[in-house]
Amino acid sequence: ESWPDDVGADRVRQAFAAAYPADGTEGGDEADGAPEVRVYAAPGRVNIIGEHTDYNAGLCLPIALPHRTYVALRPRTDSVVRLASAQEPGAAWTGRLEDVAPGAVTGWAAYVAGVAWALGQHLEATGGSAETIRGFDAVVDSCVPYGAGLSSSAALECSVAVGIDDVAGLGLAATDAGRATLAAAAIRAENEVAGAPTGGMDQSASLRCAAGHALLLDCRPGLDPVDAVEQIPFDLAAEGLALLVIDTRAEHALVDGQYAQRRATCEAAAATLGLANLRELADSVIAAGAAEGDAAAREAAAAEALAAALDRLPDDVSRRRVRHVVTEIARTQDLVSLLRAGRASDVGPLMDASHASLRDDYEVSATELDVAVEAARDAGALGARMTGGGFGGSAIALVPAERASAVADAVAGAFARAGLGAPGFLLAVPSAPAG
Ligand code: ADP
Ligand code: GAL
Repeated sequence: ESWPDDVGADRVRQAFAAAYPADGTEGGDEADGAPEVRVYAAPGRVNIIGEHTDYNAGLCLPIALPHRTYVALRPRTDSVVRLASAQEPGAAWTGRLEDVAPGAVTGWAAYVAGVAWALGQHLEATGGSAETIRGFDAVVDSCVPYGAGLSSSAALECSVAVGIDDVAGLGLAATDAGRATLAAAAIRAENEVAGAPTGGMDQSASLRCAAGHALLLDCRPGLDPVDAVEQIPFDLAAEGLALLVIDTRAEHALVDGQYAQRRATCEAAAATLGLANLRELADSVIAAGAAEGDAAAREAAAAEALAAALDRLPDDVSRRRVRHVVTEIARTQDLVSLLRAGRASDVGPLMDASHASLRDDYEVSATELDVAVEAARDAGALGARMTGGGFGGSAIALVPAERASAVADAVAGAFARAGLGAPGFLLAVPSAPAG
């Protein structure tokens, strides 16, 4: 279940009062009285389509979940940061901002301290001073399922990013361009301080999605960040649809090397083809198809252009990885076209094709994910696929709203029959961004 904002805010305020009873170590300016505690929140996400495309300069289509991470934050006048999280009992952290740098912070605190560090770097790079960012005391609580491929880490980073933005008076969260800057800082925190080599989809989703919409995110480097996103109306309820999220509860770990390996294979393949990134290949393949008249001719021409490029790659593994990325970018465009045409209930086959491509060509699925999508389809889902990085984590199923609980029951039954642990379920409704 997601928490209404007032519930999340109450929880985190109470936890803050318990974690930091007034003991004179707040670092507040005595004359002005202790500074107030403020609460910020940021959502997790699910990606509708466009998987493993963000670090290939491609397209993806996330929505913000109603599930949010809450942070109660009180600024300090010194550079001390004190952190506690309800999800990490016994792992409170205290440090100083000047000691935060890539490699210097381990554990969950890296996501929080990393954002403060990255925003300091941003200020330094734009003629300001990192010292504009002062220390803070903070407590975190969250209803974003933890480590389920729903971007609990991005929700944490982005809740802290809007908090620091507010207390430091940066004003970035007030504009879309500013939110892109906050997202960039959260991405640096994740990549450089937490050490997870992810793309930028999750943080952009958490900061830039809009309720009732999916976020079409174009990850080409050098694009004006404001031009890189488009809000695509995605009102599931109005179409009689629901998006069921199946948390397989299977371990997923992006730092274990598989994700980095996929990334490296894609970068090497682009270099072999003499391209800056695989998006350039996708664009030329799509353009080859677009020149043709009818759908069949378009598909044949695109397939021929793709095959010609794949022939230039040295091994079968890179050919399959590249085929996934190129076809996934095309599927993302096609799915967005259907949404724009008011045909949300027709997107299922594209989701199914995405899953097959991730399973067979990109090889990032897992038994639990395959069982989930198959059982969901058998029980009447219009389409289903894994979402996020893979190797475990969550799947999504687009279902006629009245079938949602029957599909969930069928998936739970299939897990039991396959001897797998019970999955978790939630309903995704395109929700509000960090604030
Ligand atoms: P996800 O797909 O959920 O983002 P990750 O493995 O990328 O999975 O991130 C999960 C990690 O993020 C946790 O192990 C923890 O270090 C950190 N994290 C996320 N949410 C919280 C939270 N509420 N409190 C403390 N740490 C958190
Ligand atoms: C996520 C990662 C994203 C994206 C996704 C796959 O876990 O954080 O940046 O690459 O995997 O689409």
